Amino acid sequence: MHFPRMPIEEESPEQLGYDKIKFNLTESSVRDRTLADLGLDLSKTVLAYTDHVAHPDLRALIAQRASGGLTADNVMITAGAAAALFIVAISLLDAGDHIVVVRPNYATNIETPRALRCAIDYIDLDFDQGFAFDIDKLKSLVRPNTKLISVTTPHNPTGVALSADQLKQIVAIAESCGAYVLVDETYREMSFIPKTPVATAYGERVISVASLSKSFGIPGIRLGWIISRDKGLLYRLLCAKEQIGICGSIIDEEIGLRAVQQADSWLKQNDEAIARAFATVKEWIGREQLLEWVEPSGGCVCFPRMREGIDTVRFYDRLNNHYGAYVGPGHWFEQSDRFFRVGYGWPTPEELAGGLAAISSALRDVS
Ligand SMILES: Cc1ncc(COP(=O)(O)O)c(C=O)c1O
Repeated sequence: MHFPRMPIEEESPEQLGYDKIKFNLTESSVRDRTLADLGLDLSKTVLAYTDHVAHPDLRALIAQRASGGLTADNVMITAGAAAALFIVAISLLDAGDHIVVVRPNYATNIETPRALRCAIDYIDLDFDQGFAFDIDKLKSLVRPNTKLISVTTPHNPTGVALSADQLKQIVAIAESCGAYVLVDETYREMSFIPKTPVATAYGERVISVASLSKSFGIPGIRLGWIISRDKGLLYRLLCAKEQIGICGSIIDEEIGLRAVQQADSWLKQNDEAIARAFATVKEWIGREQLLEWVEPSGGCVCFPRMREGIDTVRFYDRLNNHYGAYVGPGHWFEQSDRFFRVGYGWPTPEELAGGLAAISSALRDVS
């Protein structure tokens, strides 16, 4: 398998150096937490291999939060949602297998099936259709041998969430052809519309992937998971996990356990902070005539579009190099650079206001 390096990785703020960025609107998470926020003493932790599926208490808590009668046995921990998506793809797919995947998307959802040489059909989300998921298009694309339908909700980079009804329809279509449905719900805990249940609630063939990175603000521990009702499938996925790294990091699992134990208070704080930040962005974009957007319905990112005729190369140059402000340009998502992703959950209120003002100034400078 061959993997090209993705622009979103190469140009990411952590590769560029956080110290070079004044207004960082590239992040798709809440503000990063510190170990001190957890009040966790790890000095007595024995640095041994851990349960290959992962710490049973951590899995039990994740299952409990997912509800729907799930138990620790329905959960496998991975090194972030990224590894979860990778493990699902390499375990289920072979060259030539037919899959349907939403585009744009978080890179791994597309890149791993591509590297595996799958036969991929895309459901392209269209700005002019409100980035809405096209169920009829999915119906027209599935074949009797479709192996996987892959969706992300709330979606990155648009912030548009699927409704429970849409998820049900997607699952029904998958069941009609025997495909699995991979639901990347890494942003589920960040919905500011009522959260949909964990997607495994919709059927046996659904594989749910998520992590602590975005909504808990701890991407520096690599802790994600796969939830499935199909224990045979989870066993197969464990075999791949063991080939990659035997088990997870015991430190990450201890930290993750403590974080999930205090999920309710953290997530409440997040919801409030995200709601405030969202109001700031909405108010700004309402008066920014050089941009238009599809209002997001979850997560902490949006994907506005510049009006036609703006020189995008000069815009990003001015934004980055004159104002020290960074956003996620469209090419990070294989889209036109007229689009850019704004992450509003991570910056402080001052950074967010400064970054949005910088975008407006840069747009005017080059228009
Ligand atoms: C939709 C989505 N899925 C998965 C990931 C991977 O995140 P992590 O591996 O940190 O959990 C990301 C990261 O940006 C994402 O946006």
